[in-house]
Amino acid sequence: MKYFRIFAKNLAIDLGTANVLVHVEKKGIVLNEPAVVAIDNNSGELIAFGHEAFNMIGKTPENISVVKPLENGVVSDFDITKILLEHCIKNAMPGFSLIQPNVIITAPAGVSDVELRAIEDACIYSGIRGVYIVEGALAAAIGSGMDIDKPTGHMIVDMGAGNIEIAILSLNGIVASNTINFGGDYLNQKIIDYIYEKYAVNIGFQTAENLKIKIGAVDTSNENKSIDASGRDIITGMPKTVRVYASDVNEAIFNELTYIIDKIQYILEKNPPELSSDIIRNGIYLTGGSSLIDGLADFIEQSLDIKVIKSENPFEDTVIGAGKMIERLEQYKTNRK
Ligand SMILES: Nc1ncnc2c1ncn2[C@@H]1O[C@H](COP(=O)(O)OP(=O)(O)OP(=O)(O)O)[C@@H](O)[C@H]1O
Ligand SMILES: [Mg+2]
Repeated sequence: MKYFRIFAKNLAIDLGTANVLVHVEKKGIVLNEPAVVAIDNNSGELIAFGHEAFNMIGKTPENISVVKPLENGVVSDFDITKILLEHCIKNAMPGFSLIQPNVIITAPAGVSDVELRAIEDACIYSGIRGVYIVEGALAAAIGSGMDIDKPTGHMIVDMGAGNIEIAILSLNGIVASNTINFGGDYLNQKIIDYIYEKYAVNIGFQTAENLKIKIGAVDTSNENKSIDASGRDIITGMPKTVRVYASDVNEAIFNELTYIIDKIQYILEKNPPELSSDIIRNGIYLTGGSSLIDGLADFIEQSLDIKVIKSENPFEDTVIGAGKMIERLEQYKTNRK
């Protein structure tokens, strides 16, 4: 048994609302795909996963469903999550049933016991020996290389697709945290609503995502930047293309961006002044895909008058950190309550 334990390569999984990443001990990231699966409705079997399944959205016959099993960072469909995790684990570790790895998997700080249990069950069902669930914000901080093992306050803001986690860390643990229950997906929805009201055109999620990524910005000095977006005319029902401006996207999502800043400020205010002054010195670290919104880091910096550091690997910080944690599992196991 000891023999197997020595050679078992442990896995770290960042199961996100938009993307799932798997890190294998001593190997690095082996899988980075959209957290989407296509399922045969009759047999319940997996037909496609990741990018392949993503490209099927809106184009499948009746007997195939394309499903994202996570909503707002938590499991919304347990059966599909099991299928997705099983697929990821098998792909990352062919022959895993003989070796039986441990898995470290991330979850948002505010998730309930029932939700934690659902994630754990899905891993055990996939043939995993030990499942360790860690807070995503802690993993992201470790992945960023932040020096959190000293009694000094650091702040991280992980802006994903389903939620935004704001956390203050010190001595390898989370001292305070707050999860905003929306992320980049909701920003897309706000863009969809705005285009519907202003242009009477119903655009799809991917079109909204494209608008956000291409012309979405906090700074409105580029507001004349525009791209064409196609959708369905809400009166005639016919396809229609409209020209959407950067100022439209800005107006659609601006309230949400200021809400995030208000939340960060709230966390800073309600914490011991010693920690807050450490954070003012160390800065706020921004990670997660939604931190890429053009001008957002500068906007936060100016609004709060605190230095903001942008991640160089906003999509990978969490899984890299989880990978480091599994290599030092004993340390984090004892640190966790
Ligand atoms: N250039 C960009 N500008 C703005 N948003 C972006 C950009 N690139 C990606 N995003 C957004 O980043 C999000 C995905 O980020 P990430 O992979 O960190 O989320 P996740 O980990 O899957 O979600 P969560 O942690 O909330 O469960 C999506 O909402 C996507 O629209
Ligand atoms: Mg995430």
